[in-house]
Amino acid sequence: MPVLQHFLSVKWLTAALLFSSEILSTNAVGCDSPIYCPGPLLDRIQKAKLYPDSKTFVDQPTSKPLDQVLAAFNTLSATANNDTIAQFVKENFLEAGKELVPADLPEYKDQPEFLNNIKDEILRGWAQVVHSYWKKLTRRMDESFLCAGCVTSLLDIKRPFVIPGGRFREIYYWDTYFVIEGLLLSELPGTAKNMIENFLDLVDKYGFMPNGARIYYLNRSQPPMLTQMVKIYYEKTKDMDLLRRALPTLDKEYDFWVKNHTIEIDHGKKYKLSHYNTINDQPRPESYMEDYVTVEGSTLDEEGKKGLYADLATGAESGWDYSVRWLKVYPTKNESGPAILRTLNTRQVVPTDLNAILYMNEKTLAEFHQTVQANQTGDKIQYYNKVANTRKSNILKLLWDEQDLHYYDFNATSGSVQKLFTPSNYWPFWAEIFPNGFITRPNKVMKTFSIVEQFANKFVAGIPTTEINSTLQWDFPNAWPPLQYVLMKSVISVNNHIKDTNTKQRLDKLGLTLAQRMVDAAYCGWRMTGGSIPGLLEPIPGNNDTGHMFEKFDVTRLGVAGGGGEYEVQDGFGWTNGVTLWTLNLWGDKLKYPTDCNRKVHNLKFR
Ligand SMILES: *[C@@H]1O[C@H](CO)[C@@H](O)[C@H](O)[C@H]1NC(C)=O
Ligand SMILES: *[C@@H]1O[C@H](CO)[C@@H](O)[C@H](O)[C@H]1NC(C)=O
Ligand SMILES: *[C@@H]1O[C@H](CO)[C@@H](O)[C@H](O)[C@H]1NC(C)=O
Ligand SMILES: *[C@@H]1O[C@H](CO)[C@@H](O)[C@H](O)[C@H]1NC(C)=O
Ligand SMILES: *[C@@H]1O[C@H](CO)[C@@H](O)[C@H](O)[C@H]1NC(C)=O
Ligand SMILES: *[C@@H]1O[C@H](CO)[C@@H](O)[C@H](O)[C@H]1NC(C)=O
Ligand SMILES: *[C@@H]1O[C@H](CO)[C@@H](O)[C@H](O)[C@H]1NC(C)=O
Ligand SMILES: *[C@@H]1O[C@H](CO)[C@@H](O)[C@H](O)[C@H]1NC(C)=O
Repeated sequence: MPVLQHFLSVKWLTAALLFSSEILSTNAVGCDSPIYCPGPLLDRIQKAKLYPDSKTFVDQPTSKPLDQVLAAFNTLSATANNDTIAQFVKENFLEAGKELVPADLPEYKDQPEFLNNIKDEILRGWAQVVHSYWKKLTRRMDESFLCAGCVTSLLDIKRPFVIPGGRFREIYYWDTYFVIEGLLLSELPGTAKNMIENFLDLVDKYGFMPNGARIYYLNRSQPPMLTQMVKIYYEKTKDMDLLRRALPTLDKEYDFWVKNHTIEIDHGKKYKLSHYNTINDQPRPESYMEDYVTVEGSTLDEEGKKGLYADLATGAESGWDYSVRWLKVYPTKNESGPAILRTLNTRQVVPTDLNAILYMNEKTLAEFHQTVQANQTGDKIQYYNKVANTRKSNILKLLWDEQDLHYYDFNATSGSVQKLFTPSNYWPFWAEIFPNGFITRPNKVMKTFSIVEQFANKFVAGIPTTEINSTLQWDFPNAWPPLQYVLMKSVISVNNHIKDTNTKQRLDKLGLTLAQRMVDAAYCGWRMTGGSIPGLLEPIPGNNDTGHMFEKFDVTRLGVAGGGGEYEVQDGFGWTNGVTLWTLNLWGDKLKYPTDCNRKVHNLKFR
């Protein structure tokens, strides 16, 4: 194991032994635990593959003080077999996720108002069931069981929160935006506020919002949606205290994105935009073996291997782990997962979604400063408007393709756009970044949305993530709820600016079709896995399950979860529930009950 030799310095362990009790309570940025971060212990245990999912071990709190655990690890012989390693884990660790316990939802009501917006009786009953899932997905941190000196990988979280579900048993960053959309409809603003305040605490402490609330996520963030969470929360509640408390922290988060994620592109002139960019040269602790096999099995030199570790972690930072969006070479034949990922080039991609999000944040922060007027000089308002304008003009210059009438990711390696269909290409429309002479020309607008129209008519469970069936989970045939939301938002946003009646009607119809597909997918997935509604919808005979909300769907087969990727499909599921409730609320008077959950697409040719 050549590359890992440099882990084996005793420095790590002695340092850990000396400062054991402080190790997890310091304010350090970056992963610095001798158990849950890359080091000899993690390497040894993860390579024994004790569990199907590498994340399990790093979520296990210790059952003994850290120094004792490390001392016991030191006595393991170099030739100890996997059974002995399993025994060591059993003797020194508790079950994964033990520090997260169910929390009450004191503000919960059975019948939030928005249910009245849903006309179909069964869809309304189902919405109430989905609404009730917040009770199942709410957690708080409880470490009272930990012995003195015992440690866990969980970061400190003061207030209750909603989790996505499944292996995602703690707080996640961009998921939470879509969860909050649902919580606000469900009349649970206190829970939304708790989640936002938990995030603000983390940003205050670490300087940025980590991917999730675990020490092993401290090397990276995720799509920066916190400002937009505050925006939708504030719009609904007008909670000025929260806005005042949040604003300096949101400024700080914005600075982090500018400082750590700016890329300069020489394209005749120099342009600055943002990219995902995680500093990292080791396997991700929660996907340790996966990354190790991918990188060490490659023919790259040492520098190339370090770069690949960074591109893997950066792919996770993008929220799209993984997709052909980040690949130099699209898989053509029957390549294995690791072989596909060896061509990652994530840091050289300038993504449409990230830049659209940061543009929205800049506009929102300017508005927030206007509202709060904390800085009487008004400098911040001007500043954010200025950076927003610059970003908008750079997006239009580099990411907009006038020939295709389409936004694309920009490839900094080739210096040109990457002509790949993905729903994230529509994110700039949600952000209201409209090219000159676009909104006033209905035929241009409809050409831009015609691919979405075609896919919405062709596929039964939403718009696919790409057109490439790569076996990666952010590709065909998977549809993801957040991306359906982005498409619906972009249709609404464009339509708000359109005057022409025919175009308006066509976009209205497209919005409704997208909404119907989202509802069909989530409903049928739930129904086919045994979902029923007391007094309204009988259980399916012979099916003793109780219905699952999947994190992703297969666009070619209704009622079926998406697949691929590095872990088993998860259910719960925070963003699916949030987007479902949001969709049902907005289109509730027109959506139809999905009568045929067995629909499939037979002809898979795209266009
Ligand atoms: C332990 O398990 C791993 C993963 O299955 C395997 O590669 C390795 O050979 C095993 N080691 C021993 C000593 O059996
Ligand atoms: C952000 O950049 C600073 C300065 O380069 C660096 O010290 C810090 O570790 C970076 N933060 C993250 C999370 O990568
Ligand atoms: C974060 O990056 C640093 C620098 O590459 C590395 O030493 C550390 O192990 C990384 N942590 C994780 C959790 O990957
Ligand atoms: C970017 O451009 C390079 C050079 O043309 C090419 O090899 C690669 O496939 C492109 N895409 C990505 C995501 O790197
Ligand atoms: C593709 O790979 C899988 C797993 O490696 C194997 O089972 C299957 O037979 C392969 N199919 C073809 C067409 O080569
Ligand atoms: C107002 O903004 C300026 C420029 O950003 C800054 O120097 C100053 O400290 C701010 N004042 C307050 C009260 O935040
Ligand atoms: C995608 O490709 C896999 C093989 O890699 C195949 O089993 C599957 O049927 C394909 N899915 C679709 C929808 O074409
Ligand atoms: C549900 O049915 C399956 C087989 O149909 C059976 O294995 C399982 O034990 C049943 N579960 C319950 C809780 O009854």
